[in-house]
Amino acid sequence: MGEMGKVVEVADELAQPVVIGPDAYISAEFAKAERDKLWRSHWLQAGRTEDIPNVGDYITYDIADDSVIITRADDGTIRAFHNVCPHRGRKLIDTPAGQRNARGNKTNIVCGFHGWTFNREGKCTFIEHQDDWNGVLTEDRTSLGKVAVGEWGGFLWVNIDSNAGPLREYLEPAATMLDPFKLENMRCRWRKWVIFECNWKVAMEAFCETYHVPGTHPEFMEFGQFRGWGRNQGKHSNIGYDAPKGQEEDAAKLRLGTGDPRLSTAEMQNFTWENANTNTTRTLVDVANRLADELPEGTPAPDVSKYWLTTARAVDEARGVVWPVVDPQHTAQSGTSWQIFPNQQIGHAVNNMLCYQARPYGDNPDMCIFEGAVYELYPESEAPATDWEYTKPEDWPPVLQQDFQNMTAVQKGMKNAHWRGAQPNPYMERTVASLHYNLAKVIGMGGPKKIES
Ligand code: FES
Ligand SMILES: [Fe+2]
Repeated sequence: MGEMGKVVEVADELAQPVVIGPDAYISAEFAKAERDKLWRSHWLQAGRTEDIPNVGDYITYDIADDSVIITRADDGTIRAFHNVCPHRGRKLIDTPAGQRNARGNKTNIVCGFHGWTFNREGKCTFIEHQDDWNGVLTEDRTSLGKVAVGEWGGFLWVNIDSNAGPLREYLEPAATMLDPFKLENMRCRWRKWVIFECNWKVAMEAFCETYHVPGTHPEFMEFGQFRGWGRNQGKHSNIGYDAPKGQEEDAAKLRLGTGDPRLSTAEMQNFTWENANTNTTRTLVDVANRLADELPEGTPAPDVSKYWLTTARAVDEARGVVWPVVDPQHTAQSGTSWQIFPNQQIGHAVNNMLCYQARPYGDNPDMCIFEGAVYELYPESEAPATDWEYTKPEDWPPVLQQDFQNMTAVQKGMKNAHWRGAQPNPYMERTVASLHYNLAKVIGMGGPKKIES
């Protein structure tokens, strides 16, 4: 029987059909193992560099039972500390009610319980009646615990394990594949978060494959059918579309559609802008809407695509927004998005990106904090000021609501008697198997098992 098969030992074997048992999604024991072995020893995306531009700016980041303070120190470097007071364990910086995280600027962090005070280097600078300890309160006993922190792609990454290996090495090959897209130059257009009744992996897996598009987003099928792939990339994975013959990879990525390509491009762009508000920009939409006026009837699809992208690039350049130039072959290999292990998805393009993240909600395997953020290139200093908005599922863009409806239903379904585990599509959903393959290596439980015929 399939579910009795052997655990997959090498990533290549993920191309074979596998089954992933329910425990990874619903067991409290599994969630606890994740806290101890995954969340406390892996690099996690915790914010954007532009969230803390000035000395003293800080944000907090909560992950399972842990909380981290990320701040810009006096020398301009970024530091991260455990958000807990060494005295008697009060969380140092509270998350304001209803907010995703705390954010502000501080010269000193003063504990609200007995007033111990810490500078931006995490050193304790004030202890009331310190003499009472007879001199044993060494710097080591009173400083804030250090958390490893790094920057890549304009994101701030933390690792609770202060002896973590280099961030860059951890992110490969994703970092090298995504560098040409210059994600660090993008700024947020919107960012929303919500608490869902599903495991964090159920949430991530709702967005890491294109196999669900016909079933969940049937409207998109009008814009043409493309075959999507998923690939294991070491710890990480990526997805993309196979380009139809004769079309540029960029066009496959943007799913140009069928019929008069001038009109279908505009329809697709307007639909995406209005119903997803991601994966495109105002410039791309506006230029798509001019195609029927500016190009003769009968212009072949590849030419429409080329004219559209070249014109949009020029329109943006005129307002000081310069898209990086990426080699088409590199674009093809990079696909449409990357799943950075364990819980970050980056849907990249030369002028915008869409990121999803999901984290456990405390120690409850049936709940998660889900976040979506859309970025694009703006003219210098014209980026809007955004913050995380708690947004009820019904107030997200309609296309995302379609995905959300699956998430809680999957969590419920997985608890059904006799459900024997997930059987992801070996070609289109290999990213699901890849996540569990890597997770099992980290926590020593679960993992995809080969379905033996
Ligand atoms: S717990 Fe922080 S000063 Fe006492
Ligand atoms: Fe979707």
